[in-house]
Amino acid sequence: MITPHGGTLVSRIVPASERANQRAKAASLPVFELNAREASDLLLIAIGAMSPLEGFMHRDQYESVLDHMRLPGGLPWSLPVTLSVSRAALGGRRTPFSASLRSPEGEIRGVIDVEEIYTPDKTREARLSLGTDDAKHPGVQYLQSTGEVYLGGKVWLIERSKAGPFESHERDPSETRALFADKKWERVCAFQTRNPIHRAHEYLIKCALETVDGFLIHPAMGETKSDDVPAAARMECYLALTENYFPASHVSLSVFPYAMRYAGPREAILHALLRKNYGCSHFIVGRDHAGVGNYYGTYDAQRIFSQFGADEIGITPVFFEHSFYCKRCGGMASEKTCPHGAAERVALSGTRVRELLASGTPLPEEFTRREVSAILERHYAGQRTA
Ligand code: ADX
Repeated sequence: MITPHGGTLVSRIVPASERANQRAKAASLPVFELNAREASDLLLIAIGAMSPLEGFMHRDQYESVLDHMRLPGGLPWSLPVTLSVSRAALGGRRTPFSASLRSPEGEIRGVIDVEEIYTPDKTREARLSLGTDDAKHPGVQYLQSTGEVYLGGKVWLIERSKAGPFESHERDPSETRALFADKKWERVCAFQTRNPIHRAHEYLIKCALETVDGFLIHPAMGETKSDDVPAAARMECYLALTENYFPASHVSLSVFPYAMRYAGPREAILHALLRKNYGCSHFIVGRDHAGVGNYYGTYDAQRIFSQFGADEIGITPVFFEHSFYCKRCGGMASEKTCPHGAAERVALSGTRVRELLASGTPLPEEFTRREVSAILERHYAGQRTA
């Protein structure tokens, strides 16, 4: 099976035998509040999905990632993973010190051993990581919402609890690796998504599945922007689709507890590296992967892979052209496979999809399976009456 990024799968979960002690210790420490993304990142670091990271980035890691898309030792890493606090919350503390980390739900989730406090230049961070400092970009808005200083240091997650609504579909990297080994899948392709799975997504998955042993459908279920379909409704869509259109013998649905950055190309690299940690050998990158608005070119997220050697990234990206339903072909196709014109093609933008659903209009079957469309219609009808 593919080696984790950096060679070893990290685990920063407090062993059960030490949990009570750690919890008692955490109660006596200063407390910092995590936002939703930081809470997701704490979990991802602890379960090894962010291997080789063992904590939130130090300044040298942060700067090296921004400038070179590499960690200081040269390992590819494309986006910062940082913990922010306000100066007021920091209260003049000096390193080293330890602090408890409280989730947005008000639970003490972890502990950080703070080794470094530094002040980021967020405009620079935005330009380098997102390619823009436009205040309309959700990633820029995120940066504007966070505290002025970053804390670097290793973290511990006090307990890995899977009590959420998607419990039965939560699998950590060690568990997906065990699942693939158990199923004897050697070549496993992952599919990242933050949307309901429409016919175009299904087409990419099925095309790729023809050439590998197994498939990990891996929707990002951490924070997404407010006009994306919320996780609970998306999960219903994923279940409906996997139950009706994919063979369980070759396809696994697992949730990816990750908060979207909308960083396009750089995020595609990060998405791929994290899926390598989950044990996947291949990773789909289609059109405008992890994009938003018109900030990135349609295939920028594919081109960026050429800036790295194939064995540096490890996981193999599987690129797809923009795909759509063609009425003349009578099926899904792409520019590469279909000779017909735009008039024959059914392709809807995210905005158009939202408009149709908001007005109570079912999505065309060529665009979305009716089981999925029905769930989305119900979700949007609920929103209208709420
Ligand atoms: S993303 O933010 O997670 O990338 P989305 O869920 O829409 O957004 O896309 C999931 C994956 O499918 C990405 O790799 C994206 O590039 C790809 N994709 C989405 N729609 C299409 C399409 N019509 N044609 C080709 N690739 C697509």
